[in-house]
Amino acid sequence: MPTINVTVNGERYEETVPERLLLSDFLRERLSLTGTHIGCTYEGVCGACTIHLDGEAVKSCLMLAVQADGHAITTIEGLRDGSLTPLQAAFKANHALQCGFCTPGILMNMTEFLEKNPNPTDEEIRHGLVGNLCRCTGYVHIVKAVREAAQSTTR
Ligand code: FES
Ligand code: FES
Repeated sequence: MPTINVTVNGERYEETVPERLLLSDFLRERLSLTGTHIGCTYEGVCGACTIHLDGEAVKSCLMLAVQADGHAITTIEGLRDGSLTPLQAAFKANHALQCGFCTPGILMNMTEFLEKNPNPTDEEIRHGLVGNLCRCTGYVHIVKAVREAAQSTTR
């Protein structure tokens, strides 16, 4: 079995993994980072497993752990540093979650989205959310939260 070296949420890991182990399962089962959710049984459609790989939002169920060798990963557990990020605070203030299952993936995706597009229109936010399924909220409060977070950081 191959050995991989990865940095996850600032910590370095050297792990021997099966070739076919998915990155999502590596994070959840090997590193116990269960904030990365599995919502669509690894079909790549729900976005609940979204993480950052070298700063890019990716669906971790569509990657093998061996493909992360040498890369830096951030999961939802590593997103904040003591306090809520502006996006997390906006989600809380705007009731942008109900069951919360989709929320880690949406936060990871929208964090990267706002880094690339700090002043988006609602249409751009909705387009940015196409890879994240939420069966509870109807998205209205999610869009509102993303818009508020963008405004709070560009003021
Ligand atoms: S579990 Fe990865 S996209 Fe659904
Ligand atoms: S809040 Fe329940 S799936 Fe989005």
